[in-house]
Amino acid sequence: VSTIKIRDPFPPIRRKGSTVEVLDQLALPGRVVYRRCNTADAMAGMIKKMVLRGAPLIGVAAAYGYALASKKSKTPRALEKSAKRLLATRPTAVNLRWGIERMREAAIRFEGPRLFERLMKEADRIRQEDIDNNARMAAHGAKLVKKGSTVITHCNAGYLATAGVGTAVGVVRHAFREGKIKKVYADETRPYLQGSRLTMWELMQDKIPCALLTDSMAAHIMKTERIDAVFVGADRVAANGDAANKIGTYGLALAAHAHKVPFYIVAPSTTFDLRIKNGDAIPIEERSSEEVLKIAGRSIAPKGAVARHPAFDVTPARLITAIVTDKGVVKPVNGRNLKAVLGRTS
Ligand code: MRU
Repeated sequence: VSTIKIRDPFPPIRRKGSTVEVLDQLALPGRVVYRRCNTADAMAGMIKKMVLRGAPLIGVAAAYGYALASKKSKTPRALEKSAKRLLATRPTAVNLRWGIERMREAAIRFEGPRLFERLMKEADRIRQEDIDNNARMAAHGAKLVKKGSTVITHCNAGYLATAGVGTAVGVVRHAFREGKIKKVYADETRPYLQGSRLTMWELMQDKIPCALLTDSMAAHIMKTERIDAVFVGADRVAANGDAANKIGTYGLALAAHAHKVPFYIVAPSTTFDLRIKNGDAIPIEERSSEEVLKIAGRSIAPKGAVARHPAFDVTPARLITAIVTDKGVVKPVNGRNLKAVLGRTS
């Protein structure tokens, strides 16, 4: 496919010699602040608190976290404590496990002098691969966009969620440059308003015509206006094509199905977990109720109120029109097509 080079002003993670800097996504869009990260523990803390977030970015960050641990821990065995700490931060995005497993293998290969430098280089490679994967997905996905399209996206699946141009928003950006996007609706998203704070910020930087929706508006908009497609990312796709993504995605898919709006998932190969048969086996992160009971630090419910907080949901394959990957498009979505496009069975 023919990709487009897009440079972003604020990379969400950047290497500074022997340290790493992370863009604080909780401070956006009001303040652009980079936080220095010198240890695996610090990286684990940032992933857990969602200072950085988004499945592909979490994978890249975990890889750098693992590499940072090798400043002190000089053998694969000694690195295990940090690996486990990183793995325990967020359970749903499989990119995290993928990144750690790749780094574990690298640590075995590189054990010896200069382990730290070599592991940092491996993390750099993982980052670069994500940049390339994003560009390819954007190009594959843009072919699905008709001229004059109005699309809906959910959460933030843009450059802040990856090392590259983004997954779902990457497709939109590519299609916009080809003159095919009329307008983008961004769902607000809880708990941290990732859609309103982050996706709107990105779309406006790109000067893409856009408007914010609260999550509950999407079905009404589909019923009363022409919506050409929904594009969202994913945190884990099972072997049959069931896909976990930010809470609210399943409802959006049901609404799209009811209104005959094509519903597309955009996810790099690192987001596919072919070890699990279907979406029932995807671990759904349950975060603190505190995050739901507050917005921007302020209480929005009576004192003592209880809240649920599943952070993700699973959209069944039957509701997904196609899955866009860096290797091509899976359509229709089923286990056989998925394995054929990915070119692997595990
Ligand atoms: O809780 P978050 O903000 O990490 O959730 C992010 C999402 O659900 C994204 O849609 C997903 O990671 C894919 S985006 C590249």
